[in-house]
Amino acid sequence: MTDLTESISAPPVGVVGTSHVRLEGREKVTGAARYAADVPFEGLAHGSLVLATVARGRITSIGVDDVLAMPGVLGVIHHGNAPRLNPEAGLLGTGDATLQLLQDDRVPHVGRPVALVVAETAEQARAGADALVVTYEEEEADLVFSADHPGSYTPAAAPEKHKGDVDAELAAAPVVVDQRYTTPQEHHSAMEPHASMARWADGRLEVVDSNQGSFLVSYVLSVLFRLDPGVVRVRAEHVGGGFGSKGIGPQLILAVMATTELKRPVRVALTRRQVFATTGMRAATDQRVRLGADSTGRLRAIDHDTATHTSTIHEFVEFPGEVTNALYAADAIRIRTSLVKVNLPTPTWMRAPGCAPGSFALESAMDELAEAVGVDPVELRLRNEPEVGPISGLPFTSRNLVGCLTEGARRFGWADRDPRPGVRREGRWLLGTGMAAGIYGAGSLPSTAAITAHPDGTFTVGIGAADIGTGARTALVLVAADALEVPTSAIRIDIADSDLGQAWFAGGSRGTSSWTWAITAAATDLREKLADIAHIPADGITGRADTAPLIGALEQRENHAHGAQFAEVAVDPSSGEVRVRRMLGIFAAGRIINPLTTRSQLIGGMTMGISMALHEEGLRDAQFGGQVNGDLAGYHVSAHADIPAIEADWVPDYDPSNPSGVKGVGEVAIVGTAAAVANAVWHATGTRQRSLPISLERILTTTNA
Ligand code: MOS
Repeated sequence: MTDLTESISAPPVGVVGTSHVRLEGREKVTGAARYAADVPFEGLAHGSLVLATVARGRITSIGVDDVLAMPGVLGVIHHGNAPRLNPEAGLLGTGDATLQLLQDDRVPHVGRPVALVVAETAEQARAGADALVVTYEEEEADLVFSADHPGSYTPAAAPEKHKGDVDAELAAAPVVVDQRYTTPQEHHSAMEPHASMARWADGRLEVVDSNQGSFLVSYVLSVLFRLDPGVVRVRAEHVGGGFGSKGIGPQLILAVMATTELKRPVRVALTRRQVFATTGMRAATDQRVRLGADSTGRLRAIDHDTATHTSTIHEFVEFPGEVTNALYAADAIRIRTSLVKVNLPTPTWMRAPGCAPGSFALESAMDELAEAVGVDPVELRLRNEPEVGPISGLPFTSRNLVGCLTEGARRFGWADRDPRPGVRREGRWLLGTGMAAGIYGAGSLPSTAAITAHPDGTFTVGIGAADIGTGARTALVLVAADALEVPTSAIRIDIADSDLGQAWFAGGSRGTSSWTWAITAAATDLREKLADIAHIPADGITGRADTAPLIGALEQRENHAHGAQFAEVAVDPSSGEVRVRRMLGIFAAGRIINPLTTRSQLIGGMTMGISMALHEEGLRDAQFGGQVNGDLAGYHVSAHADIPAIEADWVPDYDPSNPSGVKGVGEVAIVGTAAAVANAVWHATGTRQRSLPISLERILTTTNA
């Protein structure tokens, strides 16, 4: 491992590495910041979605005339009159039929949009949507996913991955853990519901949206509606959370259809229930993990099998095996995934896709192995630390999981822990502690940026980045200030506008690494241009960059952010209540640009992890497929009272593969949290919890009071 301590222990030269409040913080807390549904437009009409009420079938009639006669109703868009879409459109460049709304009379799952009612006011549109009578010819639906489903297959997108002979190593290992872990369907639940406004103006399709990447959305929209990419302009100035769900939403596709048909600006804002029904989810997983170890806990085999589900119209693969790819060394490793197509909505990326559910399984199994071999859980992980990518054999860009584990253990007071479960009591509470490690992919993706120097000594940075609440805007200004060697007050930044050019989206925890690289490169280009001229003209001088060739030239490496999380829980075995009392997360996530907002993101990630551990579960009716808890009362996301004092901090790390040394902090802090909590619940009660969420019922039915 390269010793990077020297390069990163030096005090920061500029503003990178020092804490700054969000540039738009005042606007946000005073309510001045406008989100997609807040932006006023003259002559705005409103659209309201109508969703399929059957699990599978065919639309036989739509009572359009009755609704057209209602006050204010301007039109009803449905499969009989909707513009024809290009089936090749999809976020990843291949066709995603999830986007093919109102194209035929087929209903592939409950909640599929079947019509949009457009009216003068939002209330009239909703009244029309509520009144629209749609009849169906129902067909038998397949709604229940299970690991032994007869339709289960290995998707081409997630082929078996392995090294060594797992079966032989498992057979020869003196200690084997072989368990199943399950995670439920989960929903992103961003604070701001999805909303879009679309209008045609001056020959361009203008969109105000809530998304994680305006350039990507504009591009996919242009493909979907067969438009020249330059015709479409998408903006998303402020976004109230995304968590993976804000790619190209149904409200946007339908708003574009409506404005095209009705020649009026149209806004479509989803209700909370519609957000649950139409914007994707994390698929449920059923994972079998087998660990084979020698008597000291050294891993001989890791076998990680996942069964999960997708819709009948598009193959999305949740990939928990991702976590097993690079967390521990073992003589043999095998990762397998099987998929079942059911009549449910298409799942999508959500809050550390793959690694979040995967780490619950792997890190719970590691705790079970620690118990079986009688080795401390932190020590067990230290003994299985890999030198290179466990399957790939590639070197790591940097890796400081050991630092996370040792510093975390020290600060949490782990050394004082009595390893025996079920021995600490405080009145009615059983107390326990647990830990888990985490990993999440890092790296940079091609982006463009432009920086203009103005004659008054100020600069405008333009980059198609997205700030979905993370503080991205602020971090980018800090990096630009250092790259230009000017104070932050000299910099104005424009983001979240597809006209700013191609840029990676706020996804995969790779926004900051990708965008800072483009900004750094544009600053270099600008400084070279400025060196050649005597004075800056009135319209400024612009430096530009496209990082595609630089990123294309990178050597292949294992690149990940790492973390270790420690939890203390109290369990009341008579009520089933689990309270997390304290949590500590220590992360190694590359160079930290803005410690203030980084800490917030890490605490946010750990909060999502606690939420996943104890609360979140999308519940469906097994006969009709409808979600029975599609609102924030029934689908509980951890609230303030659920969250204890969380401490998040980091150890030195630096990613040498991008100029800012950044990895990413959006998702790594969700990875391992649920296992740390589950392992603490075992330590408190002596009973393993292998299914999420660890609800009152699960505690009551498994733990002896
Ligand atoms: Mo995130 S789930 O990578 O948008």
